[in-house]
Amino acid sequence: MMDKDRIIVLDTTLRDGEQTPGVSLNLSEKLEIAKQLELLGVDVIEAGFPAASPGDFEAVRTVSESVGCAVAALCRSLESDITRGWDAIRTAKKPRLHVFLATSDIHMRYKLKMSPDEVLRRAVEGTRLAKSLCGDVEFSCEDASRSDPVFLRRVLEAVVDAGATTVNLPDTVGYALPDEYGAFLRGIISSVPNIARATVAVHCHNDLGLAVANTLAAVANGARQIETTINGLGERAGNCSMEEVIMSIETRAAHFSVRHGIDTTKIYRASQRVSKLTGVPVSVYKAVVGANAFAHESGIHQHGVLANPMTYEIMTPQSVGKTESTMVLGKLSGRHAFADRIESMGFRLTKNEVDGAFERFKALADRKKEITDEDLEALVYTAGDVPERYRLTTFQIQSGNKIQATASVTLLHEGREVTADATGDGPIDAAYNAAAKVIGGEWPLAAYDIKAVTEGMDALGEVTVRIHHGGGLHIGRGLSTDIIEASIFAYVNAINRAMVHEHE
Ligand code: KIV
Ligand code: ZN
Repeated sequence: MMDKDRIIVLDTTLRDGEQTPGVSLNLSEKLEIAKQLELLGVDVIEAGFPAASPGDFEAVRTVSESVGCAVAALCRSLESDITRGWDAIRTAKKPRLHVFLATSDIHMRYKLKMSPDEVLRRAVEGTRLAKSLCGDVEFSCEDASRSDPVFLRRVLEAVVDAGATTVNLPDTVGYALPDEYGAFLRGIISSVPNIARATVAVHCHNDLGLAVANTLAAVANGARQIETTINGLGERAGNCSMEEVIMSIETRAAHFSVRHGIDTTKIYRASQRVSKLTGVPVSVYKAVVGANAFAHESGIHQHGVLANPMTYEIMTPQSVGKTESTMVLGKLSGRHAFADRIESMGFRLTKNEVDGAFERFKALADRKKEITDEDLEALVYTAGDVPERYRLTTFQIQSGNKIQATASVTLLHEGREVTADATGDGPIDAAYNAAAKVIGGEWPLAAYDIKAVTEGMDALGEVTVRIHHGGGLHIGRGLSTDIIEASIFAYVNAINRAMVHEHE
């Protein structure tokens, strides 16, 4: 029985989100994001596009076997895509096949080179085939917001008759305006005769910065599935951001009168994790999860918030899981206290992972007096995510404003220490040149980003880099109270990851 006031959240961070320029996630990163999504309480995880590549197929299959919520596989309306998609999700507890085909004139004429009648026939054939394999079938009319409504209604009626249980009306190019998109949804819902047999979904892109507004307008006009990504990741300007749309529905509950299954207190951690794993930083201004989202700078605001937080806060940081940094552990804390703390933070680590993280904790405690939850989180997540073919042992740098920077870097490789010296344009460039000399080959840097995990002079610096190698971009991360060390860790991590990719 369909609950008419319950919103289904389909998260597509692992599919549309992974199409963010420069983002490429490996299997273990995808699995970790899937776990975060499950903790958040999403109804459907769109795990990928299995026909796109063997790596995508494997990721969808692994996610299907690892989570309890529904898992969707995206497929073009083609037999080969649909059967491949089904093979990837057939072991999921709740499999869903998501078939799509464009319905706008411009897409049909120039991209598909098909007549409307042919598109209609293909849509029905694809849906029928999907339905013969899987009870839960979503059909998306790609570029629906720019499609002829008369044709769209024909397609929708036909695919619902063919067995689609969800029909999606994407604003694929982010062209719609909220009042227009809301009216469009209302028009479809009131005029397609069999539409009540399916859930109506929306999938909005953010090209004009309206993805969240359009999604909310659709919900207000009867859409009951929303498609989102964490931090609004996705093609071009991204998709509808899960945290923003859910906190809008939550904060303005009386206006929307709908329910959802998201545990909002898990939002902040999910946002941070996705940002770290994808290497896409969250803007400080980002609504709900940005560093400034709950910061009150002016005296008048601070005074008001102290007197009553609701003077300037429409939602609390706690409601999205953003808690104060507290000093939790120090140099004298033992393994037991460390393991207890990370467990109470919600991490479930194997004994080996705890051992590794505890080793890093001890090294950090030698340099940093107060270790906060944020530090611990960073430490846990820096867990050896790839085999360390090369590992930094020592480095020495000479640098100044009147001398050329030189670096000597020693890496451990197959039990042997190898050292190389190099010069560079600044200490980090010199260190990277020296590390690349030890390893051999070309590992050019594409992007470099540094941020402090917590405040204070002894804060941990977290460096994220991207390197070009083998036609792809590879991300690397490093963490240390010394920013040059963090930078070398990140570079070597990226090279180790690129090497794993090479051998996959
Ligand atoms: O933007 C879009 O139209 C899509 C579909 C495949 C759902 O991503
Ligand atoms: Zn999309």
